[in-house]
Amino acid sequence: MSNFSAFLDGENKPLRVAESHIPTPGPNDIIVRNHAVAINTVDPAQQAGFKVARYPTVLGHDLAGIVHEVGSSVTRFKDGDRVLGHAWQFLTGQAEDGAFSLYTRIPAGNAAILPDNIDFKQGSVLPVAIDTAARGFYDTGFMGLDLPTADAKPNGKVVIVYGGSTSVGVAAIQLAVNAGYRVIATSSPRNHDLCREAGAAAVFDYKSLSVANDIAKSVGNDQFVGLWNTIGIPESFDVVTPIMQKLSGGFVANTKPPGPTPENITVKFVLGLDEYSYPLWEHWITDALASGKLKALPEPKVVGKGLESLEHAFKVRNGDVSGCKIVVEL
Ligand SMILES: NC(=O)c1ccc[n+]([C@@H]2O[C@H](COP(=O)([O-])OP(=O)(O)OC[C@H]3O[C@@H](n4cnc5c(N)ncnc54)[C@H](OP(=O)(O)O)[C@@H]3O)[C@@H](O)[C@H]2O)c1
Repeated sequence: MSNFSAFLDGENKPLRVAESHIPTPGPNDIIVRNHAVAINTVDPAQQAGFKVARYPTVLGHDLAGIVHEVGSSVTRFKDGDRVLGHAWQFLTGQAEDGAFSLYTRIPAGNAAILPDNIDFKQGSVLPVAIDTAARGFYDTGFMGLDLPTADAKPNGKVVIVYGGSTSVGVAAIQLAVNAGYRVIATSSPRNHDLCREAGAAAVFDYKSLSVANDIAKSVGNDQFVGLWNTIGIPESFDVVTPIMQKLSGGFVANTKPPGPTPENITVKFVLGLDEYSYPLWEHWITDALASGKLKALPEPKVVGKGLESLEHAFKVRNGDVSGCKIVVEL
């Protein structure tokens, strides 16, 4: 049995598909035979040289597949389990930890069981989005939300998700709603149904001139906890800042390093990868997927099959992506 990987040999080099060894698990790792991988904006960015520790390397974060081998301390998984998970090459710099291989090593703490009614391509859309949304909500120094539970009751608190139709936004909506928060989201009108399907109670068009007023009105007398800015770029603050000012300031979790903001608004950059999300993966995601409380959203858009399709998938990912996640089946 052998592995194949899409190697990156240097900055801006094309991916090179070649045979590789099947990784060995550490005590707390699992080896996954990937059947679908999703493409994130960071993947083509890494191909262009962003935060690559050494060459050759293997990129890729989002995966879904079948457990091939488990480490000696792993109890939650066994060989043959269907799983989704987050690969850690961005942190470890190791080629074995990149998702763009047939076999990848991932921490068992960053994986969950994929129920039979959710196929691999659907499962692959979630891991990075969940981990990014989760850090803004739960890690020390961020929003301090309660974790989701199976039977959360409305708690009278409100979270705003700016960019509700991004994959990070859809995950943020689902995490907050499953912990009892009321979520107000923004997106283009074409994606309002997606935000509602994820659980948003209200959705506003961020291009509307009245969006800040409309959101403030919708928050009403409920307690405003914070705003997740999944768009993150400086221009997004043209809308986010007026919303925050209407609410007298507060906390913003941001997908990009922030620029200067008014004193009453605290903006903090989120890197969506590390052990902070283990409780979510270990105690909630498997059951929530099985019960339908956590939905595999947004829809996967499959743009190819096989590691050779990744190069094309990167190009698609660098174009306009709306209300879906770009996926390659393996
Ligand atoms: N720091 C991290 O760890 C981390 C992790 C994951 C992602 N990210 C970053 O987070 C962002 C979201 O990633 P994603 O993959 O979840 O996004 P995505 O699914 O590709 O989101 C695309 C959507 O973003 C919305 N959008 C694009 N430009 C916009 C703008 N100028 N203003 C408002 N909305 C805009 C559009 O929504 P509508 O079509 O509804 O208008 C578009 O459909 C990306 O910038 C990505 O690089 C960071």
